[in-house]
Amino acid sequence: SHGVMKMTVIGCGYLGATHAACMAELGHDVLGVDVDATKIESLGAGTVPFFEPNLDDVLKRNIAAGRLRFTTDFAEAAQFGRVHFLGVGTPQQPTSGAADLTALRTAVRALVGQLRGEHLIVGKSTVPVGTSAELADEIAALARHASVELAWNPEFLREGFAVDDTLRPDRIVVGTDPGRPDSRAADKLAEVYRAILDEPTPYLTMDWATAELVKVSANAFLATKISFINAISEICEVAGGDVTALADAIGHDARIGRRFLNAGLGFGGGCLPKDIRAFAARAEELGVGSALSFLRQVDEVNMRRRTAAVAMVERACDGSVLGRNVAVLGAAFKPESDDVRDSPALAVAAQLALRGARVAVFDPKAMGNAARGFPTLRYAESAPAAARNADVVIVATEWAEFVHMSPDELSGIVARRLIVDARRCLDGDSWTAAGWDYRALGSTVDGPAPAAVEVVAAAQNSESLV
Ligand code: UDX
Repeated sequence: SHGVMKMTVIGCGYLGATHAACMAELGHDVLGVDVDATKIESLGAGTVPFFEPNLDDVLKRNIAAGRLRFTTDFAEAAQFGRVHFLGVGTPQQPTSGAADLTALRTAVRALVGQLRGEHLIVGKSTVPVGTSAELADEIAALARHASVELAWNPEFLREGFAVDDTLRPDRIVVGTDPGRPDSRAADKLAEVYRAILDEPTPYLTMDWATAELVKVSANAFLATKISFINAISEICEVAGGDVTALADAIGHDARIGRRFLNAGLGFGGGCLPKDIRAFAARAEELGVGSALSFLRQVDEVNMRRRTAAVAMVERACDGSVLGRNVAVLGAAFKPESDDVRDSPALAVAAQLALRGARVAVFDPKAMGNAARGFPTLRYAESAPAAARNADVVIVATEWAEFVHMSPDELSGIVARRLIVDARRCLDGDSWTAAGWDYRALGSTVDGPAPAAVEVVAAAQNSESLV
């Protein structure tokens, strides 16, 4: 029917699988492509290989409707359609922190040589500024029998809201070749997104470099906002202030805004930590490292929260966790996700285990990924099971089921009624009223000082989902 286009989505990890399913949901004919045959088989059978609310439904519905298929064959992709989205991962390089563009280059090479006629390649991955220009040169050299244009269209979706964020984005950003003012790429993409743009959605066109920078700047800003409030919480800890009341109060200023001002264990996940490091590394390559040197501090403030959580637990345990039973509630880097990449919760759990605690972890969705990344921790089958005989319970990810947990339910199970709220998500008064020693990260700490705690290193990751 009218407006239906044929397109491929190359790279079917978190971003690509969501994008492919959502483009089919808009009515398009979509072919998902990935080099990972297991992933492709699973997606083709209608099973999302990770947890994301609603994605399963969208995937199944569109496969059933015949609008969505998956393949590992790039020749098929080259023939299938004239618009090709790139959603492959751009992970962090181990030493420099810079982005690793290997998967992106490999995907471009696998596709472009096989193209015939006119095509539009649309990058969605988060990349260092300058990548589009570089890839375009590579594409021009590879496209012997085709005329291929490149646009950069960054994705802002949040895990846990991926489908909604894709179908109802705050804005759509499209970067095109500044050397081609006559480019039709932005119009072509507006056609792809027609159904979204029918609902008023800002459609912002700009040059490649700006579009690339929009994405990393947005994430750098969000990370800075979180570290800002966490830095203030360090002050509150020694001065006796209440960082939550403070965030509420400053958040009423519309210029500041209350969202992303939740103090606690800080940010983790597959994007924010890696993106600020890659952005800082790129600034250095460009000779303006000092412009983003504050991002190193944003990173440091964030990592110090993990250290502070470990220290708070040690203080609460009279200086040492050696031999203590510690229940860690939460393993995912945030609620509504099974992603444990750079998870603050698991970094704390691992550090406590290193310091001799007997740690039991429970998470509603992330147990499998957590156990693969941290096989030596003990995993319990429920929050109460993790809390059985615990000397201290830590809430490390603010899943609703932990937030709404009744203190009385755990009171008879634990060895000692001591709870550390590392996400400041519990109603402390109700825990105190039920006879618990309630402590929150970001509030005054007392008790004997623990032995020096080393900075908890960036957690090792489970298999990458991107
Ligand atoms: C982020 C961006 O929000 C998204 O736009 C981008 O496309 C990808 O990166 P995501 O990684 O899914 O999305 O998670 P997000 O909801 O941003 O949370 C990131 C981390 O910050 C989580 O660990 C979360 O617990 C933490 N966080 C968030 C806080 O500590 N405090 C807050 O107030 C908000």
